Amino acid sequence: MLEVNNVTICYDTAMVLDQASLKVEKGELVGLVGPNGAGKTTLLRAISGLIKWEKDISKGTTGANVTIEGTVEFEGKRIDKMSASEIARRGLVLCPERGRPFPEMTVKENLLAGAHMCKNKAQVKDNFSRVYDLFPRLKEREKQISGTLSGGERQMLCIGRALMHQPKLMLVDEPSSGLAPKLKEDLFKRVEEIYHDLGVTVLLAEQDISFTFDLAKRSYVMSRGHVVAHGTPQELLHDETIRKTYLGL
Ligand SMILES: Nc1ncnc2c1ncn2[C@@H]1O[C@H](COP(=O)(O)OP(=O)(O)O)[C@@H](O)[C@H]1O
Ligand SMILES: [Mg+2]
Repeated sequence: MLEVNNVTICYDTAMVLDQASLKVEKGELVGLVGPNGAGKTTLLRAISGLIKWEKDISKGTTGANVTIEGTVEFEGKRIDKMSASEIARRGLVLCPERGRPFPEMTVKENLLAGAHMCKNKAQVKDNFSRVYDLFPRLKEREKQISGTLSGGERQMLCIGRALMHQPKLMLVDEPSSGLAPKLKEDLFKRVEEIYHDLGVTVLLAEQDISFTFDLAKRSYVMSRGHVVAHGTPQELLHDETIRKTYLGL
């Protein structure tokens, strides 16, 4: 379903991704683990079209010169160089790390904003009930201004907003980041439901190895811009070098 081949990204002279490759098949939940700064977010942003794919140097959001190489295929079609909205329209949706809903809008308005590409009203209604079934808390708070939500609720809203796009493949970037253990566990359960009950294929980027290995049958391990290993939790944990050097266990 998703095939990333040799993606290399440099900010000015710093190489942030070095020939990163991975594959996700339809119906899988795949992990992407690695410590802070490994390049997980950069890779997910590049896949979803948020880093401009150009042959030549372009200006990044921070003003750094960005160079990017490699290819990304989604459902057999090249999507690198497509715009982020075109990629989302095809059903590949990013739930960003520490995603920020529009703070002055209500929960419901934010969810509606996630559905802007869907013209079918019945479908939008269906998507709303799916999101509210998954996160009853969002239903309770649908009229609340999003800027006043707690960290956990904001994270639910970001996942909910991504679901309003009716994704085929969802890239979930560190959903548990900054949350208390109980909330964290709860959020991972919801991610599992999105995969298991809603049938959405998931690529989950996480620093939390134990939760990720519980959920994902196989994972890619990233370190300093490289995909250094790949396998089932058993394979990865069995290899002492991988376990000690890259997983820190
Ligand atoms: N816009 C940017 N400009 C320059 N460097 C960046 C930018 N975004 C990310 N980086 C650098 O890329 C590296 C990988 O970051 P990131 O993809 O956020 O890793 P992770 O998500 O695994 O923590 C880090 O060293 C980070 O400082
Ligand atoms: Mg990150």
